[in-house]
Amino acid sequence: MYRIVKKRELAENVDEFVIEAPEIAQKAKPGQFVIIRISKKGERIPLTIAEKDPEFGTITLMVQRVGKTTFHLSCFEEEHIIPDVVGPLGKPTHIEKWGHVVCIGGGLGLAPIHHIAQGVKEAGNEITTIMGFRRKDLVFWEDKMKLLSDKVIVTTNDGSYGMKGLVTDALQKLIDDGVKIDMVITAGPVPMMKAVAELTKKYEIPTVASLNPIMVDGTGMCGACRVTVDGEVKFACVDGPEFDAHKVDFDELINRLNMFKTLEAEALKMFQKKHCGCGKE
Ligand SMILES: Cc1cc2nc3c(=O)[nH]c(=O)nc-3n(C[C@H](O)[C@H](O)[C@H](O)COP(=O)(O)OP(=O)(O)OC[C@H]3O[C@@H](n4cnc5c(N)ncnc54)[C@H](O)[C@@H]3O)c2cc1C
Ligand code: FES
Repeated sequence: MYRIVKKRELAENVDEFVIEAPEIAQKAKPGQFVIIRISKKGERIPLTIAEKDPEFGTITLMVQRVGKTTFHLSCFEEEHIIPDVVGPLGKPTHIEKWGHVVCIGGGLGLAPIHHIAQGVKEAGNEITTIMGFRRKDLVFWEDKMKLLSDKVIVTTNDGSYGMKGLVTDALQKLIDDGVKIDMVITAGPVPMMKAVAELTKKYEIPTVASLNPIMVDGTGMCGACRVTVDGEVKFACVDGPEFDAHKVDFDELINRLNMFKTLEAEALKMFQKKHCGCGKE
């Protein structure tokens, strides 16, 4: 049983949960995730361990409300018990002393990027973080990324905060300014990761992307999370979730993420009708 110790809304439709999970907090490494099930009849969904506190035995999850389960979870308050939290899952990020690392997170991609940046900093790298959001009121965790990074660049699509444009515009500017970049690590919406990979490939900058395919067990037993990397089928939950971004078939990933769109929309509609959107059972 996993108790919600703290909950707060970070931005529109984004919640942060601190959850009591001492064993996971002891073992979790950057890049790893958990699979949670929030009720007896619930589905299993993967969420990244954005932060851990082994001393207090807690892990922090950031959740974007996109469908039935994440909307339902957002109704849970402090002291609520989550029945199943399985983890840590996935391969930890491969971290070396590369030199200058650019960490790029779009929206909820900040969850993996935050934990990875902690590891990258501990390994003695210089870090520039590029955080991308649609607009000013969706910006979160800038303070936390500033603590870890030598430089933080926030971009908003509409220019309402920070640099106007996309994360790739900020990355292009660094390249144009002649900044030496030894490694790029990116997480966020798939089209964003694809655009980052296309840009860095042109300049031969090694790039790793944290992929987010549909998952069920998260332990390598079903293949729901399969992705194609360098022409080979890989299971993101055990072989990843991070892969060489220049070798990932991003278009296939986008198609596979859209596979259950109709059923997902129906499930959310039924849930909201039954619970008036509040989700309390
Ligand atoms: C390894 C991993 C780590 C993740 N970490 C986080 C995280 O830290 N925070 C977070 O908010 N989300 C994270 N996700 C995505 C999260 O698992 C999904 O948003 C969630 O499963 C949606 O469940 P739902 O029932 O609310 O929505 P659904 O009804 O299942 O889906 C609603 C919409 O979200 C899209 N969607 C569904 N699953 C995913 C997915 N896996 N990735 C991207 N879009 C999806 C669907 O295409 C659909 O449009 C992660 C996914 C993976 C694989
Ligand atoms: S989620 Fe089943 S094998 Fe990865």
